[in-house]
Amino acid sequence: MAFENLLIENKKRIQYIIINRESKLNALNKATLAELHTAFYEAFHNPGVGGIIITGAGQKAFVAGADIAEFVGVDADGGRDIARQGQTTVFDMIENGNKPVIAAINGFALGGGLELAMACHIRIAADTAKMGLPEVTLGLMPGYGGTQRLSWLVGKGRAMELIMTAEMIGASDAHRFGLVNHVVSQDQLLEKAEEILNKILSKAPLAVASAITAINAAFQPTANGFEIEINEFSRCFGTKDIKEGISAFLQKRKPEFTGE
Ligand code: COA
Repeated sequence: MAFENLLIENKKRIQYIIINRESKLNALNKATLAELHTAFYEAFHNPGVGGIIITGAGQKAFVAGADIAEFVGVDADGGRDIARQGQTTVFDMIENGNKPVIAAINGFALGGGLELAMACHIRIAADTAKMGLPEVTLGLMPGYGGTQRLSWLVGKGRAMELIMTAEMIGASDAHRFGLVNHVVSQDQLLEKAEEILNKILSKAPLAVASAITAINAAFQPTANGFEIEINEFSRCFGTKDIKEGISAFLQKRKPEFTGE
């Protein structure tokens, strides 16, 4: 499907989803969020796609936040709808996806932009990137899961400080805090993201999907993560991939997984 605000590129089993509103620093308007929902739905259901790298067009911004212009005239009920709709159709959907998603943070990742990166499974930042949740500057607060995911990633004290001061941090502080996994130069960003994703793509896809489910359960207060781990572990034993993985190990050869 062709999109107005996204570019989709395929490189073997890697799919790039590139947010393409460079003149607005790739801010997430309603149309872009709807397209992100469709793009991720299609990627998660396309057997030709093994994993996704999401990034922003240009060198200045990953995503500079939700589109502030669309907040004019919104009342309390409208605000609830914006947060609930965005969380369920985009941010939670990415986090709970059955394929690995890596955010390649190529510049500003602010507000909804950092929330988008935090919904991904792995984050890599260019050394020029700047990150923050500056919503309180606008009389708002994070609404796309930022209060929860930032607290999980950097701890409560740092999340409190970052959100209440609205300060932006650079890539090296983000790395020190555990907000991003790696920092590389801008020109090595996609190469690094591909290197990590290709390592994951050489493993058993259903086992990777089960691992995503079980790790996510550790951060759902109402879920019994240990029980979910038992179920996912058990599910792996029902796959063809485990037979291939074990045979390959015993025969001292590389496994060839089919994702079945
Ligand atoms: N929503 C809508 N438009 C945005 C935007 C957002 N979140 N962030 C940037 N833009 C637009 C600007 O309005 C400007 O559009 P214009 O050229 O039509 O006037 C364009 O993108 C370029 O941004 P500009 O502010 O001129 O760039 P800058 O280099 O001076 O500043 C930022 C960069 C990121 C510091 C600044 O754009 C900013 O603070 N953005 C908002 C960040 C934010 O609060 N995000 C959370 C939203 S809930």
